[in-house]
Amino acid sequence: MEKSNKTSCCTPTAETNSNADCCAPTTEIQTQSFENNFAKSNPNFLKSMFGRTDLMPLWIADMDFKVAEPITKELQRLVNRGNFAYEFNADKVFNALVNWNQKRHGLTLESKSFLQVSGVLTGIGLLIRSLSDEGDGVMVQTPVYHQFFKVIQSANRSVVENPLRMANGSYEMDFEHMEQQLKTQNIKIILLCNPHNPIGRVWKKTELQQLVALANKYNVRIISDEIHSDIIYSNTKFNSIASFSDSPQHIAVIGSPAKTFGMQSISNGYLYIPDTQTHQQVKKIIGSLYLDHGNALSAYATLAAYTQGEAWLDETVGYIEEIMNWVAAFLQKELPEVKLVRPDGTYQIWLDFSALNLSPDALGQLMVHKAKLALTPGTWFGSNGAQFMRMNIASPKAKIQRAFYQIKKAVREAKDFVPDCSTEGSGGCCNC
Ligand SMILES: Cc1ncc(COP(=O)(O)O)c(C=O)c1O
Repeated sequence: MEKSNKTSCCTPTAETNSNADCCAPTTEIQTQSFENNFAKSNPNFLKSMFGRTDLMPLWIADMDFKVAEPITKELQRLVNRGNFAYEFNADKVFNALVNWNQKRHGLTLESKSFLQVSGVLTGIGLLIRSLSDEGDGVMVQTPVYHQFFKVIQSANRSVVENPLRMANGSYEMDFEHMEQQLKTQNIKIILLCNPHNPIGRVWKKTELQQLVALANKYNVRIISDEIHSDIIYSNTKFNSIASFSDSPQHIAVIGSPAKTFGMQSISNGYLYIPDTQTHQQVKKIIGSLYLDHGNALSAYATLAAYTQGEAWLDETVGYIEEIMNWVAAFLQKELPEVKLVRPDGTYQIWLDFSALNLSPDALGQLMVHKAKLALTPGTWFGSNGAQFMRMNIASPKAKIQRAFYQIKKAVREAKDFVPDCSTEGSGGCCNC
């Protein structure tokens, strides 16, 4: 990986900022060397989502980096073994998760409270079905990971939005509005995202305390999606909802190594349900669908990640944080019209374009047709995301730098840009 102290011609100075071509990735962590079949760069997918294929793909939340070497070695060992007879390794992974959480977050968990499923969204879908009835409300705090809407609606539950509040450039939960809704709507579940995709907030202990207190008061469950819990920047402590051990009956956690270790297409999801009765109830459903069998390649890769991948993770998070700091400095100095909502963690950044005063369609088109970037439109995450774009920065630094020079150029030209929403595939945003 490119070392963090390496300087490049892309350092944001007045001399270099016009020379975006010099920012071509030079490191071993570039996407070009990989096959073009990944969803984010698949030409057919790009065409259908954004209307063109010549875009730098910074939308889907996965990493451009090679995984930690122990993961690759473990997968190679299994391939060489050449035998894939049944094996059930979930318990070994649960123990590794217990050790990891103790060491990394000072969090004491019990191996027996884990359950394995095939992915995080699968786990959320199962929990929603187990812990509520059709027609019940599930609360989300927008802007939030767009699949939450789908996973709730496809279980025939209704989405109740408690929009996050912006205060001093940062988002916070609106507890007053939340309590009002808990009183008046038929809410059975609060679906928490911690760290919160797309805004990158890592919820503070005091915020989680308030949330748990409300869940207890109104007898509502909290499902906490903690898939991003290991991408945490300096001076921030991640607190899992599982640390509230005096409220086990109201809590379920779901996580996975997917984001932490760049294992998006090969990782299982891990539920943590401390309440024995709820655990048994969910286990029964998982067992009835044989969703707990797992895949040995995934299990061994996960074990390698959690037992030998920490040094790689520290280096990777440090590298991503350095990119995030570069973006903050660049925007402040070179492009103050666009604001970074400074994240505490995750490798997504949430960019505020409201000063440009463009409609969501026009903003989307500007990014696609002028900046030539595939970013995730803020509208995907809720109506309060309309003036925003989400960008994935888990990429070579030079690539992200080049993206920002392209944004700068596009924004400077924005006043002359007339969006055309009449054509098919007109920027992925005309229909959002
Ligand atoms: C908050 C959150 N939950 C879940 C997922 C998807 O997890 P999985 O692929 O394991 O279903 C993502 C992917 O971006 C995510 O950001």
